[in-house]
Amino acid sequence: MRIVTVLGTRPDFIKAAPVSRHLEHIPGVEEIIVHTGQHYDAALSDRILEEVQLPRPRVFLGAGSGTQGQQTGRMLEAAEAALRDLQPDKVVVHGDTNSTLAGALAAVKLHIPVAHVEAGVRSFDRAMSEEVNRVLVDHLATWLYVTHPAAAELLRREGIPDALITCVGDVTLDAVRLFSPCARENRLRPFAVAAGAYVLATFHRAENTDDPACLRNIVAALEDVATRMPVLAPLHPRTRAALERAGLGTSADGLHYLPPQGYLDMLALERFARLIVTDSGTVQREAYFHRVPSVILRPDTEWRELIARGWARLLPPADGQALRQGIHEALDAPRPADDGGTLLGDGRAAWHLARHLADAPSTALPLAG
Ligand code: UD1
Repeated sequence: MRIVTVLGTRPDFIKAAPVSRHLEHIPGVEEIIVHTGQHYDAALSDRILEEVQLPRPRVFLGAGSGTQGQQTGRMLEAAEAALRDLQPDKVVVHGDTNSTLAGALAAVKLHIPVAHVEAGVRSFDRAMSEEVNRVLVDHLATWLYVTHPAAAELLRREGIPDALITCVGDVTLDAVRLFSPCARENRLRPFAVAAGAYVLATFHRAENTDDPACLRNIVAALEDVATRMPVLAPLHPRTRAALERAGLGTSADGLHYLPPQGYLDMLALERFARLIVTDSGTVQREAYFHRVPSVILRPDTEWRELIARGWARLLPPADGQALRQGIHEALDAPRPADDGGTLLGDGRAAWHLARHLADAPSTALPLAG
């Protein structure tokens, strides 16, 4: 059985790695990786691919940047050609990126059934391109792998038949468990910070970077907290460009802008942080898996359970004063009760998923919702 995994961004590579490791050991299964080229910088792509030891992509689609439509359109056309050529029995896509949508759409139009990993995630905000991608891919997929029962319930409410939904847990947790032994405290040395005595910040969502007022509020809040303890902020290329456009591109005292980090250094930075401030859906979950409290730089999150358990708090950057105050409060708050990090599975999601996908009849096409 030939399975093609279509991916193209940093978080896709990390999520795909544990799944590939299991698929590799299933007799009769051959997995081929198709890289759309959505992320093309060495720091965002090559380095991460190498660290997570994903099988070398066989096909590069070279999509690069562009507007949403340009980027997705280029990937769709190129993915269709690649899938025609490779003739897979099944296609796997992860998460909610434009690469995910392009891979899924190209496959179903060729009548190749699609597995969607991390299905059933919703922000209920269609202004986010990731939300549009998730909804569409969930309704195209034959196999929907969800991280926890609430995601399955969301899909059922959208009319997706129960038979298509499988709860396996979060492959992000698998990756954290797999790679954390390589993310030891000595990785902090080059950053000159001590474990438990710094804040880690990441922000790259278009809603934050493309709104100069939000960007200014985030930077002001981080500069403020940096008077208390160092803030390390690895910058996505989009964020770097937006900060430079806004004249905010220089690190202030205590606030250190860093280049995009490799996955292992990033895991170490997350693991030993006192607090994580982020607008990333993946980083907020990783924070929870490391039992590090987080502040989410958004008005809402797809992962509300993290808030219910006290591990995360929402601070929309539109309100600069509340953001500054909220970050200080998060630093002063007592640690939430340790629930064992079990909200999103047992760290064996990739194993469950790979077995299920390998056993599923490849002729299955989506049932009408
Ligand atoms: C994408 C995903 C987002 C995910 C994020 C992880 C979509 C719609 N969004 O956002 O869900 O959280 O990846 O990083 O798919 N750029 C570079 N070098 C690169 C890649 C991008 O300089 O290697 C620049 C592009 O020129 C562009 C900007 O970064 O200006 C944004 O890149 P893009 O691929 O559009 O989406 P991300 O913001 O990375």
